[in-house]
Amino acid sequence: MSRKNFIIAIDGFSSCGKSTVAKALAKKLHFVFIDSGAMYRAVTLYFIRQGIDMTDEAAVVAALENIHIDFVPNAEKTQILLNEEDVSDEIRMMHVSDLVSEVSAIKAVRHAMVAQQQKLGKRRNIVMDGRDIGTTVFPDADLKIFMTADPRVRAERRFAELAAKGETVTMEEVVENLSHRDHIDSTREESPLRQAADAFVLDNSSIDQAEQLRIVMEQYEHIKNDR
Ligand code: DC
Repeated sequence: MSRKNFIIAIDGFSSCGKSTVAKALAKKLHFVFIDSGAMYRAVTLYFIRQGIDMTDEAAVVAALENIHIDFVPNAEKTQILLNEEDVSDEIRMMHVSDLVSEVSAIKAVRHAMVAQQQKLGKRRNIVMDGRDIGTTVFPDADLKIFMTADPRVRAERRFAELAAKGETVTMEEVVENLSHRDHIDSTREESPLRQAADAFVLDNSSIDQAEQLRIVMEQYEHIKNDR
């Protein structure tokens, strides 16, 4: 392998616990954690604020030129900056979640984000979570994890997250949003959510976070030793 840095790709449906495992893994290994979904969310927020017509390709392409996304790690969490504004909280809100799958299905958006993600993984050891990391962004990732979880468990997890942030949403709205996103994410034309053939599948419906981390670390140790 010509690449020296180590790349871990974690893919799966929404609210499967990908980012929790990815963050814990990155912390343990001292790798950089990159939440690729946050990038699509930041683009979506920009489109909402600027009133960009998503069906107008020229407007989308022009808007993308004005979007700069940065990740700034600090002691507690990594901030996501959209054109230098901290949007970490707003990108998790329902008005963004409701549109993000549509925005992330747009070809020009995907091309721009995939190029940025590949740049972020050029030299550093990274853990990146998303939908197409092991298939499209880094098909040669050293370790690929595909996470799944029971739909009810996923909805409960998401509902609790939103409630903790003070968002008033019903369980039905959460279930509807998740199944809508699952459908779009896995049926879109451009890099749909798919399990890479060489991914390790982790079903976390009934295992806790410590156990998830233990299993993934075991996979990491295997691969590291073979490398
Ligand atoms: O992981 P998340 O729920 O924050 O992701 C938000 C949306 O972004 C999700 O509905 C699909 C899209 N996404 C994507 O298309 N490709 C990725 N690599 C990551 C996220």
